[in-house]
Amino acid sequence: MNNDGQQITHQVYEDPDIVEGYIKRNANDPKQKDLVVSFSKTINGKKVLDLGCGPGHESYIFAELGFDVIGLDFSSEMIRRAKELKESNNKPSFIVGDMTKLNDYFAENQFDAIWASASLLHIRPTDIPATLGGMTSVAKNRAKIFIGLKGGKGTLLANEDKYGKKMQREFTLWSKEKCLSEVKQFGWKLDNFDSKEGSEFMGQPTQWLQFFFTVVK
Ligand SMILES: C[S@@+](CC[C@H](N)C(=O)[O-])C[C@H]1O[C@@H](n2cnc3c(N)ncnc32)[C@H](O)[C@@H]1O
Repeated sequence: MNNDGQQITHQVYEDPDIVEGYIKRNANDPKQKDLVVSFSKTINGKKVLDLGCGPGHESYIFAELGFDVIGLDFSSEMIRRAKELKESNNKPSFIVGDMTKLNDYFAENQFDAIWASASLLHIRPTDIPATLGGMTSVAKNRAKIFIGLKGGKGTLLANEDKYGKKMQREFTLWSKEKCLSEVKQFGWKLDNFDSKEGSEFMGQPTQWLQFFFTVVK
């Protein structure tokens, strides 16, 4: 994987039409809402980081459940849409930022939970240790972490048009074993794992891998 793939992916998420398509397709998914609600019940504390939050729909679900939420995304268009996604009495905060450099934005031991749904799948393999290290650093001891990834192997530049426009995005695909081996050095404890079929990706159903961890410092 090279920087071009990252830049292409970033440009896609800066395209207002694609972001609009993303919101239409994903922002009201009842299954994701159920997942957020069940994960939220495991959290001890109030502060949640939504990592690669996209248009912020899941940040709002946490906020409506009473959590103090910060959504971070490297797309300024996603963050612009997140800020105005809906009215709320407990609005999340949103910042433009790169999830591979979390220590640039947050002090250590800040968060009771980190929600990373379908975002680490855009991080190139060489940046994974820095990203997981940053997550460990900004999380409190005993924080809960959710990671949602696409199953598979290697990296690829995928041609898609599911948001109403032709686009290319770069993906790093994962296996359960790869994820567990990447987090090993950070001492996270696996609480639960699930694998689910999703909509088509590259001619086959997506295999979604869902990891639920506790940070142990
Ligand atoms: C597939 S979307 C997932 C959005 C949302 N979490 C969800 O579950 O619908 C991936 C998001 O990750 C963001 N992203 C990709 N690489 C990133 C990085 N290095 N730092 C921050 N955000 C990133 C993209 O801008 C995009 O909004």
